[in-house]
Amino acid sequence: MRSDTIFDELETPAVLLDETRLMENLRAMQYLADRHGVALRPHAKTHKSLEIGRRQIGLGASGVTVATVDEALVFTAGGFKSITVARPVVSPSKWDRLLAAAKDRSVAVRVVTDSREGIQVAGERAAVHGYIVGLFLKIDVGLHRCGLLPEDPRVVELAGMIHDHADLDFRGILSHAGHAYGSKSRAEAVRVAEEERRTLIAVRDALRADGLPVTEVSVGATPAVLATDCFDGITEIRPGNYVFLDLLPVRVGVASLDDVALSVLATVISKNETYFVTDTGSKTLTSDTGVHGMTGNQGFGLAYPERGFLETACEMIVEKVSEEHGMVRRNGFDLPIGAKIRVVPVHSCPVANLARSYVVLTPDGIESWQVDAAGGSR
Ligand SMILES: Cc1ncc(COP(=O)(O)O)c(C=O)c1O
Repeated sequence: MRSDTIFDELETPAVLLDETRLMENLRAMQYLADRHGVALRPHAKTHKSLEIGRRQIGLGASGVTVATVDEALVFTAGGFKSITVARPVVSPSKWDRLLAAAKDRSVAVRVVTDSREGIQVAGERAAVHGYIVGLFLKIDVGLHRCGLLPEDPRVVELAGMIHDHADLDFRGILSHAGHAYGSKSRAEAVRVAEEERRTLIAVRDALRADGLPVTEVSVGATPAVLATDCFDGITEIRPGNYVFLDLLPVRVGVASLDDVALSVLATVISKNETYFVTDTGSKTLTSDTGVHGMTGNQGFGLAYPERGFLETACEMIVEKVSEEHGMVRRNGFDLPIGAKIRVVPVHSCPVANLARSYVVLTPDGIESWQVDAAGGSR
């Protein structure tokens, strides 16, 4: 049993990680992947931590996914052997940084693309470095961010261009159904996942009919992956958020508050009739109120007195944030100045990115794990 003094001694804001819940989430996703016979390549943009990445690999993950070249370099230096950069890389200098590091450590580099320009620069830099790059064609399955629409004639053209390039290895197709976060229910998230799967299978079959080998069909977005039970034709999943979870998947109905592994410890530094004022504002909690159409989250997190964590009767809302202050609606409660409050954030990924370390609550006490790739988007 953890004593109250452990929290009392912690300076705030502190990003807390419940190791037991974290490991349950890691194991559950690996079990899901194994059960469906798909590779799990978690998106490390959520945790940005070598420690957590190593635990994922230890449980059976095939490699990691990252969003940025800077993240890729941290995981390359950390000894990871296969990395997918799931955001298009179009700048020659970024390719040079990535390929120099990857070649040096014999790391398999896989990157998404959706343009002729992207393929050209990838091919040029791969040739210069003498290092083969795996490329995925990104398919837009409804998020309308990156990717080619499935019916776009460039799908076949660009896949052929990658396939024909001596320094590029056409891996297959990849999508991200981030719009699953806009689902109002688990059933809706299932429909998003199933539409994504059917779309990708159709694209795969069209490419194969044109003589193009599609080795991998990769999907990944926590709500879709947790909701669906059908992965036929999928070879890989890349969920990120599942390690911590937060109010977004909880609101979709694919996780419960009890599953959330990350919370933020705050201190009441002032109070007025309406609010407890804490030391935890947007520079810790971020001002993220939802992603990809996920609305309906009131405020910036659910707050609980330290001793009533996750008790519905003790629930309060972080209603406003300025940079270094959080405004928690009191809901008739009273807490003394100096009291600790625990907040479940709306979106844990950007919270982790702003932290330098996690305060890890283990069954034996507290550990500190670095957020190795924190900050920056390059
Ligand atoms: C391309 C891509 N793949 C996978 C993911 C993982 O999604 P999630 O964090 O919802 O699991 C993301 C998240 O932004 C992404 O952009």
